[in-house]
Amino acid sequence: MREEAPVSRVTMPGGGTAWALTRHEDVRAMLADPRFSSDRTNPGFPAFTEGQQQLAARFRKTLISMDPPEHGPARRMVVGEFTVRRMEALRPRIQEIVDEHVDAMLAGPRPADLVRALSLPVPSLVICELLGVPYADHEFFQARSSLLLRRTEPVPRREQARDELRAYLDELVTAKEQDPTDDLLGRQVLKQRETGLGDHTDLVSLAVLLLIAGHETTANMISLGTLALLEHPGERARLDEQPESIPVAVEELLRYFSIVDLVTARVATADVEIGGVLIREGEGVLGLGNSANHDPGVYPRPDELDLTRGDRHHVAFGYGAHQCLGQNLARMELQMVFGTLFRRIPDLRLATPAEELPFKDDSNIYGLYELPVTW
Ligand code: HEM
Repeated sequence: MREEAPVSRVTMPGGGTAWALTRHEDVRAMLADPRFSSDRTNPGFPAFTEGQQQLAARFRKTLISMDPPEHGPARRMVVGEFTVRRMEALRPRIQEIVDEHVDAMLAGPRPADLVRALSLPVPSLVICELLGVPYADHEFFQARSSLLLRRTEPVPRREQARDELRAYLDELVTAKEQDPTDDLLGRQVLKQRETGLGDHTDLVSLAVLLLIAGHETTANMISLGTLALLEHPGERARLDEQPESIPVAVEELLRYFSIVDLVTARVATADVEIGGVLIREGEGVLGLGNSANHDPGVYPRPDELDLTRGDRHHVAFGYGAHQCLGQNLARMELQMVFGTLFRRIPDLRLATPAEELPFKDDSNIYGLYELPVTW
């Protein structure tokens, strides 16, 4: 498609059609253009499942589905929590969390499932401590987040998962409103009072978004990144010798896997030309990040994992106004996990052939359900 018809009309699984953008330049142009809306209740928004629009209409919009003028002030309310400086302050605690989980893995049976031992618990614990959500409830929220993201699950089951997650966070936010704790959600309660912006429902929606986005994404990148590094022992050996090149390697892993490329969908609110094609007001558009990040016009030998590539223009975290709020946190977690895991378990290896691994082909966020490893 990228070569022959880079802006193509496609049929959506939930009904209707949308334009699929496959070139890096076009995806960035679309994501930076305020004439494309993130409003999932708009009838033209690309439908991944039947009933998606009705589901979206049931809840107050949160950051990811807001447009101007609503989006800017809502993002400014929370952006200060995710600055590089704020994230750097979390570094010692994140290192402790990573080390504790590697210790537990080493003390446990072999083979181990890396997803359960490391990929899921590390970012879950980090986001729980940041938000002020009890980690003891991790099985509850991990199971519901995973279900919610799975396209093949019947809509009522996904709705139920979302309702349960919302009810859980509603109760938690209510408790923080009564007694604001020193964590992100507690501080948002105080900020709402100070500024007069936002209310209880807004905060519950934000909590749902941050809890899901904060653990599922990074967890899948930890699993896929570990797999890729295990499959490229030469590249990995170089990282062991030059740990300072880990940040560059992480950018390449983010580009290579582009696990969140279905989220960057929009609907046109005016007639707009992209890549020489006229997209009409009301038509849906998919900014296919994975395709954009494998555009040979931008990345020579795009399907090769080159951990020295050193590119920061990839769209794995999106682009424009909605660019990932948690990217500084995600980068730091990934750098610390890969830096620690291979240093502490140098003979880590797959316990199942790569072709037999259960990849998340059915989820809105790509990844692995399981990654059996041994050492
Ligand atoms: C490797 C990990 C991650 C990847 C690949 C990723 C990817 C993305 C992408 C592609 C978007 C853009 C969506 C759009 O344009 O519609 C986004 C938005 C967002 N991400 Fe992430 N993300 C990651 C980790 C995180 C983490 C750890 C958090 C929270 C702690 C987070 C919170 C958010 C939020 C709140 C938004 C919406 C921002 C807005 O609409 O203004 N993400 N992410």
